[in-house]
Amino acid sequence: MSYELKCIGLLTSGGDAPGMNAAIRAVTRAAIYNNIAVKAIHRGYRGLILGDIVPFQTQNVSNIIQQGGTILKTARCQEFMTKEGRQTAYETIRREGIDALVVIGGDGTFTGARIFAQEFNIPIIGLPGTIDNDLWGTDSTIGYDTALNTIVEAVDKIRDTATSHDRLFFIEVMGRDAGFLALNSALATGAEAAVIPEHKTSVEELENRIRSGFRKSKNSSIVIVAEGGEGAQGLANRIRKLFPSYDVRVSILGHLQRGGSPSAYDRILATRMGVAAIDALLDEQRSIMIGIVNKEIVHVPFSKAIKEDKQIDQARINVLQILSV
Ligand code: F6P
Repeated sequence: MSYELKCIGLLTSGGDAPGMNAAIRAVTRAAIYNNIAVKAIHRGYRGLILGDIVPFQTQNVSNIIQQGGTILKTARCQEFMTKEGRQTAYETIRREGIDALVVIGGDGTFTGARIFAQEFNIPIIGLPGTIDNDLWGTDSTIGYDTALNTIVEAVDKIRDTATSHDRLFFIEVMGRDAGFLALNSALATGAEAAVIPEHKTSVEELENRIRSGFRKSKNSSIVIVAEGGEGAQGLANRIRKLFPSYDVRVSILGHLQRGGSPSAYDRILATRMGVAAIDALLDEQRSIMIGIVNKEIVHVPFSKAIKEDKQIDQARINVLQILSV
C-alpha cells in the first residue's frame, strides 16, 4: 500500500436519503473489522471545515440500520466550493490523522470530492446516496427504492379520492433534473402520464392522453410531474384553461419523499456498498464511486458518475403510453 490506512473519515452530504444510516453502519463496521479507525464527520463538508468530528466505535452504529435520515447529519456546503474552504478542510484532515475519506451523497458531493482529492492527493471513495437515482454507473442509488415506494403509497391514496370525486390530479414528485422517480412511480401506480425532463411532453400530447382517458370509462386521471420546469401547478393551470369542465387538483409531495425507514432493498444495497468502500480503499482505489450493475458491485470514476448522463429507459415511456388507453 502506497500510504498507511489507519484511519478513515466518514461523512454524508447533500440531500439525505433513506439507507444512509445503513451505509454508515456498514462502512464503520467493515473498517473496524479491518483494524481501521473511523472518525465521523458531522454535517458533511461543513463538519470537515469546522472540525466537527468524533471517533466512532462499533456501538455508535448500533440500531440505526432501520432509521431514515442520517445520524451524521448533512448539509449543502457552499464554503467547500472555494479553495480556502477546502484548504481548511485539508488542515482538519491532517490534524485528525485521517488517511482517507468515504463520502455518501449525490453528484454535488462527488464533484466536491473529486476536486478535493485532486488538490490534496487524498484517497476518497463515494457511495451513491440520493433518492433521485441520477448517478451514472449504478443501476440504483441508496434511497431511491424507498422514495419510490413512498411515492407509490401516496399516489395510491390520492387515487382513492381522485376516483371518488371524478378528478384530475397533477402530482409533483422530486428528482431535480431526473425523471426516474416520476416515470417509475407512474408505471407502478397506473398513472395516465408522467411528465419528465428526459422526454418532452407537449400540452397537446397531454391533452390527448387526458381527453381519451376521460372520454372512455375513466372518470379520474393522475399525471405524475417531475419537479422543475413549470411543475405540477403550471401544468394544472394550463389544463384548467383548456378544459374548464375538469375538476383539477394539484398535490406536491415534497420532502416526505426523503424520509422514512429504508426498504429492505436499500438496506441491503447500502450494506453491500459500505463494505465494498472499505475493500476498495484496501485495494488502493481512489476517486471512485461504488456502483451496482446487474447486482454486481462496480467501481465508477467520479468523473464519469458526475458527468455522464444516466439514460432513462425509453421502453418504459412506451409502456406507460400503451397502458394509458
Ligand atoms: O437531490 C435530492 C433532492 O431531494 C432532489 O430531488 C430535490 O430537488 C432536492 O434534493 C431538494 O433539496 P432541498 O432539500 O435542499 O430543498
